[in-house]
Amino acid sequence: GEISNRRAKEKVADEVSRYVKNGDVIGVGSGSTSYLALEKITQRVRNEGMNVTAIPTSKEAEMNCSYFGLPTSSLISVQPDWGFDGADEVDENNRLIKGRGGALFAEKLVMASSSKTYILIDESKRVHQLGKKFTVPVEVDPRAIHLVETKLTRFPVEHVRLRMAQSKDGPVLTEAGNVILDVGFNNIGDRLEDELSAIPGIIETGLFIGYSVEILTV
Ligand code: A5P
Repeated sequence: GEISNRRAKEKVADEVSRYVKNGDVIGVGSGSTSYLALEKITQRVRNEGMNVTAIPTSKEAEMNCSYFGLPTSSLISVQPDWGFDGADEVDENNRLIKGRGGALFAEKLVMASSSKTYILIDESKRVHQLGKKFTVPVEVDPRAIHLVETKLTRFPVEHVRLRMAQSKDGPVLTEAGNVILDVGFNNIGDRLEDELSAIPGIIETGLFIGYSVEILTV
């Protein structure tokens, strides 16, 4: 249920907070599990008087850092020592789908800049086959929607949906003013992330394959 799910998330949040060291620059992820981790981390930072800088992966993460009083910086100024983030699906080879929150571009920038990222999930995120339950979010420049849809027909694609906003009319716009196509693939091979990135107009995809991640799960 909802409560045991929250307990599970609090347990991984506790675990990741133990890895914080004085002077660390930490990539801070988005989503509810990352929020709990950030809360635990700031408690430790405050209690032990540590000096820690956060690199937020989204406006949401940035607001959470401000709320908890954790100083932030950006990849322009500093590189993260390590980071933490959630995920939407994780397979047995630690390949991830992310981007339900729409912040996949910055999440990938921060993860690619970190030598290690802890992925905080509960068991419900574990899958045998990536992309069966969840679709792959693809951030696209609005001018390239038709081009990308045409190019996608060459891939084993089941369906393509323009992500629509829930609380207002029109499509979801990312922090960079792009749209998101939620793409259902029949088969996700190891090269798909690179192949999609080669299509002009695709800013980033929610496929995270081959990153240095450690999965923390309960
Ligand atoms: C953000 O774009 C996503 O990748 C999140 O990391 C993901 O949705 C995890 O959120 P929860 O921790 O709330 O499940």
